[in-house]
Amino acid sequence: MPLVTSTEMFKKAYEGGYAIGAFNVNNMEIIQGIVEAGKLEHAPLILQVSSGARKYANPIYLTKMVEAAVEESGLPICLHLDHGDTYELCKDCVDKGFTSVMIDASKHSFEENIKITKNVVEYAHDHGVVVEAELGRLAGVEDAVNVSAKDSSYTDPDQVQEFVTKTGVDSLAIAIGTSHGAYKFSGEPKLRFDILEEVGERLPGFPIVLHGASSVPQYLTDQINEYGGDMPGARGVPEEMLRRAASMAVCKINIDSDIRMAVTATLRKYFKENPSHFDPRQYLGPARNAVTEIVRHKLVNVLGCNGKA
Ligand code: G3H
Ligand code: 13P
Ligand code: ZN
Repeated sequence: MPLVTSTEMFKKAYEGGYAIGAFNVNNMEIIQGIVEAGKLEHAPLILQVSSGARKYANPIYLTKMVEAAVEESGLPICLHLDHGDTYELCKDCVDKGFTSVMIDASKHSFEENIKITKNVVEYAHDHGVVVEAELGRLAGVEDAVNVSAKDSSYTDPDQVQEFVTKTGVDSLAIAIGTSHGAYKFSGEPKLRFDILEEVGERLPGFPIVLHGASSVPQYLTDQINEYGGDMPGARGVPEEMLRRAASMAVCKINIDSDIRMAVTATLRKYFKENPSHFDPRQYLGPARNAVTEIVRHKLVNVLGCNGKA
């Protein structure tokens, strides 16, 4: 089976009240760790590549490794560009064999966002590739995504129908209070389920995407801190909120920070306990197993997409 688009995955997820996990990939161990979890749980997967990941690994390596994952696992896998910020970047990914791209023009005006997104949709659809766009702005800092809390804004449900109709986009990321990175909430975690519900009513059957959806498990923060790290106050989206979103219109849930934390916690502990080891396979192997463990947990306990491949 070749790489697939997310169309069929989202249709089934919407009808079944679950969500597909979209996991960020940057190297071979992360790809293998995620795919092993997908195999064990018989789950469809979206593997997504940010512009930072492209710079780090070179897109051809990531694409070929994801193609190898499809061949080896037999799972339905979609290769997606995460947070593409220009038409040119999206076009390059379409040309390089991605089956899905995100054009994130959310920093522009509503009209400009429509214009840029529509151009990407036209090129992508001509090549059999699907498109995700974003309306509203999430806060948070990652490599290429850096939005302060004052520049963030919730999605306005009054705009979603016009946006989707005018752009022809296939899925829409909305801002309801999640944010990128491991520091999402200082006070009580709160998501605007009222916005999600209203968006769902205005766009019946249409797949909604939730970014910034790592839950930042306490045991990983504790392990990082116990072995010399410093992540005080790291706090993610409670899993029960993600499950609730998955049972509503949300069909794709983006997770990166939790994988980063699983790798980091494993390496910190490993080096502390094995200070003389220097073969990368000795420590990257356990890190890869930790990725499998956390992704498996997400597939079964958060997303509900186990057994849906
Ligand atoms: O939302 C962004 C993703 O987590 C990717 O982060 O830009 O640091 O690769 P990155
Ligand atoms: P987290 O930082 O919560 O993992 O979000 C990842 C994301 O939204 C990737 O696009
Ligand atoms: Zn994101």
